[in-house]
Amino acid sequence: MANSPKISPYPHRHLLGIEGLSVQEISHILEKSDEYVDQNRRADKKTDLLHGRTVINLFFEDSTRTRTSFELAGKRLSADVINMSVGSSSVNKGETLIDTASTLNAMHPDVLVVRAGLSGAVQLLAEKVNCAVINAGDGSHEHPTQALLDALTIQRRRGKLQGLNIAICGDILHSRVARSNIYLLVTMGAQVRLVAPMTLIPSGAENLGVEVFHDMKAGLKDCDIVMMLRLQNERMQGNFFPSTREYFHFFGLNYEKLSVAKPDALIMHPGPANRGVEIDSEVADDYSRSVIREQVEMGVAVRMACLDILSNNLQLEEAK
Ligand code: NCD
Repeated sequence: MANSPKISPYPHRHLLGIEGLSVQEISHILEKSDEYVDQNRRADKKTDLLHGRTVINLFFEDSTRTRTSFELAGKRLSADVINMSVGSSSVNKGETLIDTASTLNAMHPDVLVVRAGLSGAVQLLAEKVNCAVINAGDGSHEHPTQALLDALTIQRRRGKLQGLNIAICGDILHSRVARSNIYLLVTMGAQVRLVAPMTLIPSGAENLGVEVFHDMKAGLKDCDIVMMLRLQNERMQGNFFPSTREYFHFFGLNYEKLSVAKPDALIMHPGPANRGVEIDSEVADDYSRSVIREQVEMGVAVRMACLDILSNNLQLEEAK
């Protein structure tokens, strides 16, 4: 059975986004995650911390790695894990979301992990249920566990986040990964640069405490980390760039553009990567530089830490 609950440095019921979290709260999740990395490398990866708890993965949008990662995380902590993929073709998404949530809520889940196509949908759903909710990506808004796993990857490689020069490149405008990373990295004291065509930078980006570049070599100069993002074609209405060929020419990461970064700069990508669009295949597969596989490994540890922390908080509430 679960251990007795402790007063938590992360005193929230949900994890809906990184915006507004403190340095202490983020650090607490990262420290816990670090412990789970060790557990996941053992032959016996399972503990019974979430025994008796039910975790439902509710995905209104496609996902391979995030869903699998949450499923593994729940199972390694001995929770009962159910996966629900809801077709994206539903006519009225708002209604479907709330209806589904209240149906599931009646089954007494302890944690709902939700991915939704609409920004803000996960927050709305969290207001309608009694359990803890983790945002697994809502539209172009936030994807907090992705930012946490990116931070854990960087911190384990570089020993810190503070003071590092981190370039986030590509479709910033439509990316929930970029948004969550910006909040997290700026809060933790990194120097964040955004590199993208003018059309793919959100208006007012400078107010987020970042520097904006429209030229890869200017943006990558002397940076420690190069984080590449996929063009989110499914969220684009209209033309944001002339062609993928031209996009690759100006914004695709290859060795030539990478040569201006620090010689040991790490390459990151949340996946799925589009080879020949935002990243050259050779660079993506260069495991002396690319930590893409490590990001996936850290993902499971981060999700275990989040489930651990939120179920501890549930226990505290239940004990009242
Ligand atoms: C990202 C997502 O879904 O937001 N992928 C992921 O979670 N691994 C990034 C993307 O889809 O480009």
